[in-house]
Amino acid sequence: MKITFIGGGAMGEAMLSAVLGKGLTTVQETCISDVSDTRRNHLAQKYRVAVTENNRQAVNQSDIVVLAVKPQNLTEPMTEISDQLKPEQLVLSIIAGARLETLCQGLNHRSVVRVMPNTPAQIGEGMSVWTATSEVTTTQKERTGSILSAMGREIYVDEEKYLDMATAVSGSGPAYFFLFIESLVESAMDIGLTREVAAELVLQTMLGSAHLLRKSGKPPSELRRLVTSPGGTTAAAMLQFEKGGLTNLVKQAVSAAYHRSRELAGN
Ligand SMILES: NC(=O)c1ccc[n+]([C@@H]2O[C@H](COP(=O)([O-])OP(=O)(O)OC[C@H]3O[C@@H](n4cnc5c(N)ncnc54)[C@H](OP(=O)(O)O)[C@@H]3O)[C@@H](O)[C@H]2O)c1
Repeated sequence: MKITFIGGGAMGEAMLSAVLGKGLTTVQETCISDVSDTRRNHLAQKYRVAVTENNRQAVNQSDIVVLAVKPQNLTEPMTEISDQLKPEQLVLSIIAGARLETLCQGLNHRSVVRVMPNTPAQIGEGMSVWTATSEVTTTQKERTGSILSAMGREIYVDEEKYLDMATAVSGSGPAYFFLFIESLVESAMDIGLTREVAAELVLQTMLGSAHLLRKSGKPPSELRRLVTSPGGTTAAAMLQFEKGGLTNLVKQAVSAAYHRSRELAGN
């Protein structure tokens, strides 16, 4: 599978590393086009792949062209490659907020997949939600599924509106988690633990709990109840979360992210 990346930043590299690592493509079949010298040198040295600053040349002969530039930089590469694309090539965009119709029009191309990945993809633990235009073939969908599985888990949705929702949950989600970790570490230090011990306790507790949730197959509410004895320490903490309106606050935050994601996508 010949694959070209337009934009070799953090997310482009995560995808590159995943597809090479899982043997979905080879170094010889991969090309990265990036305007940044630093990124090109880094990627050429680390992965031994071909690099270029010429987007038009880069897309030649590729089965899949991945668009991985920032949303504000999309217009230029899109215009550059629009008259180079052949109908059988698949364009896979990971650009937040770039709608399928905008991509199809800008690229003058119909076979387009839109993906909302997230940053844990950098270590193969990502969550990607994706959709495709009706022109994308079954084989191209299968290839997309295997590329995204190489970066973690993937879910196909048949309506684009779910991508705006996923943006507010899995796209921004890592930041919610990191904020909670930061607060928990600070709270642990406030009651007397050192930063090192607090950080270790918090991280392992979060990791262990996430694995327990996944492996047990039990709902989080049940696992929470198992830790919460009436009148005990967890119950004392839960009461404070409840008093502070944690559930509502989370709902408001996710709703704000969702509305912003729709706004950015021009909805
Ligand atoms: N990071 C996330 O959490 C996340 C999650 C989901 C989706 N995404 C999406 O993933 C995309 C990439 O994000 P990122 O964090 O990897 O961005 P990034 O680090 O800025 O990488 C983009 C790369 O593309 C280069 N570039 C800019 N204009 C170009 C052009 N015309 N032709 C070729 N290369 C060009 C940039 O160079 P310069 O730096 O010199 O401009 C940079 O090296 C974004 O659209 C974002 O919405 C990101």
